[in-house]
Amino acid sequence: MRIDIISAVPSLMESFFGHSIIKRSIDKQLLELNIIDLRSYGLNNYNQIDDYQYGGGAGMVLMVEPLFNCIQDLMTKVKYDEIIYLTPDGIPYKQKTANSLSLKKSLLLIAGHYKGIDQRIRDHFVTMEISVGDYVLSGGELAAAIMADTIGRLIPGVLNDETSALEDSFQDGLLAPPVYSRPADFNGWLVPEILLSGHEEKISEWRLNQSIEKTRLRRPDLLDENL
Ligand code: ADE
Repeated sequence: MRIDIISAVPSLMESFFGHSIIKRSIDKQLLELNIIDLRSYGLNNYNQIDDYQYGGGAGMVLMVEPLFNCIQDLMTKVKYDEIIYLTPDGIPYKQKTANSLSLKKSLLLIAGHYKGIDQRIRDHFVTMEISVGDYVLSGGELAAAIMADTIGRLIPGVLNDETSALEDSFQDGLLAPPVYSRPADFNGWLVPEILLSGHEEKISEWRLNQSIEKTRLRRPDLLDENL
């Protein structure tokens, strides 16, 4: 799989991708990740990429022309399955979205900055607009990193334990149950006995009940979604 990310500040993502599970997937050649510096498509002597917005108002906008040239250039080399713009006014990002995007061959992510990108890029290139949460980040880079991480770890072979991604919170519409490791008694803090029983069926039932109860308390909206 290939993920390309257009960014005005690529250095924001370099450390993350250099030290995460994403790095492992790149090293294993399961993922090709390219960060494209929008500044290299900047205009005039200053490599300008942003400008004031028409109609007035605070904040700069990433200009149409550098983004247009950058995307066109990439599209001569790659046929993208989706061109995704990260923005707080996008569709909320869910595990389901990550699951389906992990099946694609090539994605282009556009990290916005300042007030956002010129609407004409959204109208003419972008196929999905995604928000990673109801808050405003100072740039789309963190959002792009979240997407690359959540998608990258789903690529078969990236995680050591093939099944572990399937048991994550949200995969079955429920939050994950509590987990414990050795010792069974730490200063009198005990691991629930059922987990030591070796009774697989009862353990599965206990885990499911814990998941349902946690979801009911913390995220009742998830239960409604799965009715
Ligand atoms: N850029 C700024 N805030 C964002 C958010 N919440 N999701 C995606 N991109 C963003």
